[in-house]
Amino acid sequence: MEQNTLTRLLLLLILPAILSTTSQSSLLDDLSREPPPGFNQTIARDCENDPTTRYCNASDTKLVAIYQSKVTARYLCNASMNENCDFAFTKISLQGSPNETRLFLSLFSFWKYCRLSIRLITLSNNGLRGSFPIEILQCTQIESLDLSYNDLVGYLPLDNLSALTNLTHIDLSYNHFSGQIPGFLRRFNSSGFTFSGLTEVSPADRPVPVLSVITLLTLLAILVSSVGCLWWICPRQPDFPPTALQARVQYMFTPGMLKAATNNFSETNSVGNVGRYEVYKGMLKDGREVAVEVCRETVTSEARRAFVHECRILVQVRHRNLVQVVGWCDRKGVRAVVKAWVGNVTMEKWLSQRSHDGAPSWHQRLKVAVGVANAMGYIEEEWPRVAYDLRSSSLIVGPHREPFIFKLGVGEHISASKKVYKYGALVLELITNKRAREGFGRGEAEFVEWVRMHYPSQVRKVMDEGIKKTGTTCEQVGQVVGIALMCTDPSPDRRPGLAQMVGMITGIYESPPPVWAQHNPSSTNHGRASKGVSMQ
Ligand SMILES: *[C@@H]1O[C@H](CO)[C@@H](O)[C@H](O)[C@H]1NC(C)=O
Ligand SMILES: *[C@@H]1O[C@H](CO)[C@@H](O)[C@H](O)[C@H]1NC(C)=O
Ligand SMILES: *[C@@H]1O[C@H](CO)[C@@H](O)[C@H](O)[C@H]1NC(C)=O
Ligand SMILES: *[C@@H]1O[C@H](CO)[C@@H](O)[C@H](O)[C@H]1NC(C)=O
Ligand SMILES: *[C@@H]1O[C@H](CO)[C@@H](O)[C@H](O)[C@H]1NC(C)=O
Ligand SMILES: *[C@@H]1O[C@H](CO)[C@@H](O)[C@H](O)[C@H]1NC(C)=O
Ligand SMILES: *[C@@H]1O[C@H](CO)[C@@H](O)[C@H](O)[C@H]1NC(C)=O
Ligand SMILES: *[C@@H]1O[C@H](CO)[C@@H](O)[C@H](O)[C@H]1NC(C)=O
Ligand SMILES: *[C@@H]1O[C@H](CO)[C@@H](O)[C@H](O)[C@H]1NC(C)=O
Repeated sequence: MEQNTLTRLLLLLILPAILSTTSQSSLLDDLSREPPPGFNQTIARDCENDPTTRYCNASDTKLVAIYQSKVTARYLCNASMNENCDFAFTKISLQGSPNETRLFLSLFSFWKYCRLSIRLITLSNNGLRGSFPIEILQCTQIESLDLSYNDLVGYLPLDNLSALTNLTHIDLSYNHFSGQIPGFLRRFNSSGFTFSGLTEVSPADRPVPVLSVITLLTLLAILVSSVGCLWWICPRQPDFPPTALQARVQYMFTPGMLKAATNNFSETNSVGNVGRYEVYKGMLKDGREVAVEVCRETVTSEARRAFVHECRILVQVRHRNLVQVVGWCDRKGVRAVVKAWVGNVTMEKWLSQRSHDGAPSWHQRLKVAVGVANAMGYIEEEWPRVAYDLRSSSLIVGPHREPFIFKLGVGEHISASKKVYKYGALVLELITNKRAREGFGRGEAEFVEWVRMHYPSQVRKVMDEGIKKTGTTCEQVGQVVGIALMCTDPSPDRRPGLAQMVGMITGIYESPPPVWAQHNPSSTNHGRASKGVSMQ
């Protein structure tokens, strides 16, 4: 019985890897074939059974396209793990399989004749680039759409999205879209827009002209009184200029200051792009090294206000494992966030490094895991509205191998159990150096299952080759894998709380090594940390 389950699990894991290329090529073969003789009759029968089928009104000249859409549907149904692919299927679910997803997205005839039975589309975690994959919106009947964790840019196709009248769930989080959350999508759960690049305020909230006049008058009154204050009253006050004003000035940068810091935004200072932002390395007048993220798109004044509001909060967030937001610039044409420079080595890159001193050691990895956990605990306690991105491609490992959560935002609260899950998956990535979106058909969930299968007896098999496998190390890795698997339990109720999770991981980092290991000379250099080792 158990053997059977194991074999099935093994097949589940190995087959997609082998098939990913073969099934793609056999799909392409099938697509290049002519429709079989009598195919027009097949269609006629289909349409008799169900006249609402999208291709029923197409003329004979589209026969090839209809044939291709049916072939594609067969493969896509299988790839999406539907129960019954002979008849109608309900979901398109492709996660963490970028190549397959891109192939299916390119098969236009399928989307054109999108089956009415399809209710759910999930294309998350596929590294999709470019603009919104508009072809999928021809499935106007869908109820759920998930495009989270991709690298999509640009504006949302509003006309086409608003045609999805049956939509009840949408998730665009962790992308780089531009513009604001359109009014008709604001009824949805706001966690679907976290780090989507979309801003919260919409032009609909713009004050009406009457209000503008009042605002203007109020402003004038404030101006007059503050001028009066400046000339007459305030200089006599001990607190001048007011601390609030001092604080704001301290964080505000002008385009001139940024130019001076980045050699006039020179090519040599450029270190790439993050979504809509160009990133420059620079040096402030006081010698601090900074990363300047510049966005030159013009946006509405509401979006600018939201941006400043966010920056004002982020400059107050301070933790040694969170990148320090030093200030911002908000001028027409140039909006920028200035952050402390912590290097540009992402955790993803760091894990793949094989420099002169080899891959990152277990101790270094554990230190990174603990640093991230501490930062999460801090945010949970002090800044519950601050959201962050835990993808290994967004985390930075600094010059002293200290982790930094780099992408911060102010958004809606994401449930703690979801954060705990993301953290667990991240820790497993630290140990295995495998990316959930590469080589695992169902993405993160399958990646986690793969590790779970090897736990606890075969943990060595999932460990990154770069980790030296001494006794103490393996024991500690086993403990940490155990915690990470708890955090990634499929059932949110069984995951530990965030504070508990932080406690467990720091507990391992700080616990003294087992007694026997102290007498084992081969293991003293790696994989352990006593209470005396500082995290600074
Ligand atoms: C199918 O096509 C054949 C010729 O290609 C034609 O003779 C036949 O009438 C068509 N049948 C239908 C149901 O359209
Ligand atoms: C096909 O055309 C008929 C009339 O021309 C129309 O009633 C029907 O709704 C159309 N079906 C589809 C799926 O568009
Ligand atoms: C779909 O999967 C079933 C078994 O899982 C297999 O027999 C069938 O050939 C697959 N179909 C396609 C088109 O890949
Ligand atoms: C995906 O495609 C890229 C090139 O387009 C290739 O290098 C990579 O091996 C492919 N991955 C899989 C799992 O087929
Ligand atoms: C929404 O669902 C209803 C009932 O299932 C259906 O009649 C309607 O056509 C759907 N709307 C769209 C845009 O497909
Ligand atoms: C998107 O909307 C535009 C304008 O309404 C329309 O012309 C176009 O066909 C739509 N595209 C899709 C894929 O539905
Ligand atoms: C929004 O989604 C989060 C997580 O997916 C969930 O915990 C929360 O209950 C949802 N809120 C509403 C109003 O549906
Ligand atoms: C800075 O760059 C802009 C255009 O990129 C150029 O017009 C300007 O002259 C430059 N200023 C200096 C001081 O180099
Ligand atoms: C990282 O920053 C250094 C400068 O500190 C730069 O030389 C290098 O090109 C940057 N790497 C990337 C990928 O941007």
